[in-house]
Amino acid sequence: MSVSAASTVEEEVDECGPQPIARLEGNGITAGDITKLKECGYHTIESIAFAPKKHLITIKGISEAKADKILKEAGKLVPMGFTTATEFHQKRSEIIQLTTGSKELDKLLGGGIETGSITEMFGEFRTGKTQICHTLAVTCQLPIESGGGEGKCLYIDTEGTFRPERLLAVAERYQMNGQDVLDNVAYARAYNTDHQTELLIQASAMMSDARYALLIVDSAMALYRTDYSGRGELAARQMHLARFLRMLLQLADVFGIAVVITNQVVAQVDGAAMFNADPKKPIGGNIMAHASTTRLYLRKGRGETRMCKIYDSPCLPESEAMFAINPDGIGDAKE
Ligand SMILES: Nc1ncnc2c1ncn2[C@@H]1O[C@H](COP(=O)(O)OP(=O)(O)O)[C@@H](O)[C@H]1O
Ligand SMILES: [Mg+2]
Repeated sequence: MSVSAASTVEEEVDECGPQPIARLEGNGITAGDITKLKECGYHTIESIAFAPKKHLITIKGISEAKADKILKEAGKLVPMGFTTATEFHQKRSEIIQLTTGSKELDKLLGGGIETGSITEMFGEFRTGKTQICHTLAVTCQLPIESGGGEGKCLYIDTEGTFRPERLLAVAERYQMNGQDVLDNVAYARAYNTDHQTELLIQASAMMSDARYALLIVDSAMALYRTDYSGRGELAARQMHLARFLRMLLQLADVFGIAVVITNQVVAQVDGAAMFNADPKKPIGGNIMAHASTTRLYLRKGRGETRMCKIYDSPCLPESEAMFAINPDGIGDAKE
């Protein structure tokens, strides 16, 4: 990379918030320490400031004293104390929403998919989860005034259902250059749960180099189901999942990106099933429930139509909207 390119990247990062970890150098923190942190996926000062000390000391070559020093320096550069609701309100008004392609669905979501947090979409197969992911991978590149995030998309595919052709169809609908749209989507196929976690470390490096607006994991749970199948492995699965989701939350937080994950459902067999006409629930238990800020339940409707219900949200009422899966991506159902 040429010197001038490197400096523009740094300026871009400056602009959108996160501070490059290289700025921690000095005050007893060496370039070698910075390299060690980077190798473990810490690329921004924020990611350090938010990390518990016990995670830092697991890094080879980082002693407890060193971890204290690093945290102290990071704490000086990242505000972590109280603020007022006014200030927080102001900050929230800067949150961008990404259009889903359907006006009805956007309205249900209060504008679209929110940046800075995790949105989970769950439902049976063929309910449109992957199709929504494909549409968002394109719309996140649109200008902000057109419902986009003016950023790239990072797409982690665990089921082998990613299809660039679908992106091209959506790009055409928005009159975007197909080649550019594909170039702006970084794609990785994940093969096991360790691999899918490992990919997030690479993701944080990529996000500190260029402006990303969206990270997709389709699906977040599929590999957990295959890697941990027995009942006896449940605790280990949940622990691994918690770490994965924590990393996702951190990326959302530090880089202000939207994180969209998909999830499968299972039949609900407990007492609640008796009072519920459609007894399905997402998998992943409490760990998943706590990590996802907005949870959307997708259902099949007639023909190409689908229903989306707000299952859980800190600020949206429980209601539903109808949308359609069209050849050019997600749209509204025809009358
Ligand atoms: N090119 C296309 N044009 C219209 N509909 C499509 C197209 N490709 C896939 N679909 C529809 O999308 C649905 C599958 O949605 P998908 O997002 O893959 O489901 P999920 O990920 O929830 O299992 C199918 O019903 C299929 O008919
Ligand atoms: Mg799918």
